[in-house]
Amino acid sequence: MRRVALALPLAAEDRMAMELVRHGMELASRCSSADELAAAIERTQPDFAIIAASPRYLNDRLMAEADAAGVRLLALVASDSERRHAASLGLLEVADVEAEWAVLETLLVGSQEEPNLAPLERRGRVIAVWGPAGSPGRTSLAICLASELAAAGHTVALADVDTFSGSIAPALGLLDEAPGFAAACRLAAADSLTQQELERIGQRYLSSRGSFWVLTGIGRPNRWPELSADRVGKVVRACREWVDFTILDTGFSLENDEEISSDLFAPRRNGATLAALREAGDVVAVGSADPVGLSRFLRAHVDLLETVDSEIVTVVMNKIRAGAIGPRATSQVRQALLRFGGINSPVFVPHDQAAFDAAVLTGKTVLDVAGRSSARLAIATLVEERLAPQPTRSRRRAWSGRSRVAEAN
Ligand SMILES: Nc1ncnc2c1ncn2[C@@H]1O[C@H](COP(=O)(O)OP(=O)(O)OP(=O)(O)O)[C@@H](O)[C@H]1O
Ligand SMILES: [Mg+2]
Repeated sequence: MRRVALALPLAAEDRMAMELVRHGMELASRCSSADELAAAIERTQPDFAIIAASPRYLNDRLMAEADAAGVRLLALVASDSERRHAASLGLLEVADVEAEWAVLETLLVGSQEEPNLAPLERRGRVIAVWGPAGSPGRTSLAICLASELAAAGHTVALADVDTFSGSIAPALGLLDEAPGFAAACRLAAADSLTQQELERIGQRYLSSRGSFWVLTGIGRPNRWPELSADRVGKVVRACREWVDFTILDTGFSLENDEEISSDLFAPRRNGATLAALREAGDVVAVGSADPVGLSRFLRAHVDLLETVDSEIVTVVMNKIRAGAIGPRATSQVRQALLRFGGINSPVFVPHDQAAFDAAVLTGKTVLDVAGRSSARLAIATLVEERLAPQPTRSRRRAWSGRSRVAEAN
């Protein structure tokens, strides 16, 4: 018998208690505040909790306790401000306070009883975009890869796994008050992450050239403990069953906090990036093609190869421009990479300020606003030649012509 805890105002609590009995569920506890329920969760071990969505009954602490215990929360909303409060905490399982029991039951139990992403023939590919500190262009590149793959006719999910500076949502003009990736992590922790749930919490970037799913990142960096390595791994595996390509925008740091913390069970801030890299079949390692960016990249690349196999890494030197590295910029960078990092066949993406400015200004992809940008064409070639070579010409061709700029210089 399923056990349900309640934290609701009296009238709603009475109605819910009767519904539970009528539908064969056990009332685990009645609480009069979020803190009381948070304290009772471990003792009463409910399967679910139905709560009001006001600050009195729903707060950060309750979310954390419920997450840790794998208790699924369902918030009943009575007003727009309550809906906003639930969304601001990243709780997407909400229903109107007047909703019929059948609606609540579907939200609580429905998706749990569905086969948990039954094995499909399709197992999608996962590409992690990583790069050292200093904003070399991880997010920009991840967005470009997603748009190119979608334009080539693939189904794509772009996920913001950066626990330091998640920025996909603002870059694409999407709402980030309820981070989709954190919501997916919570559902994964409760073994409730299904394809329907992914489509409910994912936002769609719409484009006539190819739309894709976006799982937005945590706007407030202090929410990083929600993205534990274990959860990130589960979400990425669920995404592989969902779409053809999952693109992960990761954080920069590969430091393993275990070396600096004696608490084996403490959450690890870099766990999300490390998990994303371990789940990926391809890693795109991006560095900024200027003297500082290059030296940072070469140092961090050594750490990257301790985490993933060099076979799956494609090195991208971004923002290449003579002004920052001197004449014959491409060949200078190529030689430095080979000599100091043993790196062969890097991909070069030109500096194209106008294209990236236009994209961020409009909240669109570079493909949508500046399809003929030299940077975009280099990234399109990277996708077409290395990441997703097309065996036949049957798929829809990516928009616009291509030039082999990536390795041209
Ligand atoms: N090829 C390029 N040409 C010109 N500007 C670029 C290029 N690639 C990225 N940029 C710009 O560089 C800046 C940093 O890019 P981005 O946010 O993608 O970096 P990041 O590595 O994700 O940084 P963060 O550490 O903040 O996550 C942005 O203003 C972006 O528009
Ligand atoms: Mg970024």
